[in-house]
Amino acid sequence: MEIVDTHAHLDFRAFDGDREAVVARAVEAGLVAIINPGTDLESSRAAVALAERYPHVYAAVGIHPTSAHLLDDEALAELRRLAAHPKVVAIGEIGLDDYWPRVPDRGWRCATPEEQHRAFQAQLDLAADLDLPVIIHDREAHDAVLTLLEAWVRGGEGRRGVLHSFSGDEAMARRAVEMGFYIGITGPVTFKKAEGLRRVVATVPMARLLVETDAPFLTPHPYRGRRNEPAHVRFVVRQIAEVRGVSPETVASQTTRNATTLFSRLRVETFHPPAPMSAGPRS
Ligand code: NI
Repeated sequence: MEIVDTHAHLDFRAFDGDREAVVARAVEAGLVAIINPGTDLESSRAAVALAERYPHVYAAVGIHPTSAHLLDDEALAELRRLAAHPKVVAIGEIGLDDYWPRVPDRGWRCATPEEQHRAFQAQLDLAADLDLPVIIHDREAHDAVLTLLEAWVRGGEGRRGVLHSFSGDEAMARRAVEMGFYIGITGPVTFKKAEGLRRVVATVPMARLLVETDAPFLTPHPYRGRRNEPAHVRFVVRQIAEVRGVSPETVASQTTRNATTLFSRLRVETFHPPAPMSAGPRS
């Protein structure tokens, strides 16, 4: 199987102790690429550094909505500089988060809805300017995100992206697909109560599905409760295969093709060369 995990935060502290081994396990599990999105400037720089270090790792750069207040002119200029790197495949993760601003006593400064809107729009404009796809974070902000994205897509040619860790319903998925977007599926699709998400998976065109982990978060069954890592994306692949009634290999190859279509800077190398014509049985 050749799988692309289109969303993993390998730069996060959760991987400081064993990053090397985590990447090695991912490669062993059949991953041909991992996209590491940034969540602020420091994380975006770290994502690019990891992409330089590991052949399978690619980066996206962006400011997460909860940190949107950190996006000033200088930060935007640095994102633009970072995005010139050939292994930066997208602007992200960007979007709107309506959950965290409403959590009392959270103990950290979360961007206000107004700050989030401003930063989201500025980074959408940056992506359009650089002709890069966007990786969208949408937590409890479905209508506002869709409305902004629909206006953005109408504003110019080739504007494209993925709704990361999709959490909407079938109607929302249909709107996203109609405007040319991809649907990112994460570990929760394996949870018992995720009937709604599995219905989305059953109805979205296969050509628009992507598989992601959002590691270290959203660990799929049967590892739920532990730290997530890119190798676990295979459980997402298997669940989609079961829902669609196809083989995991079919899901893997189709979603890998989708990833290389959306993220045109992705250079997926095949690490399993085809067997020579005269070869005997393959292991
Ligand atoms: Ni994320």
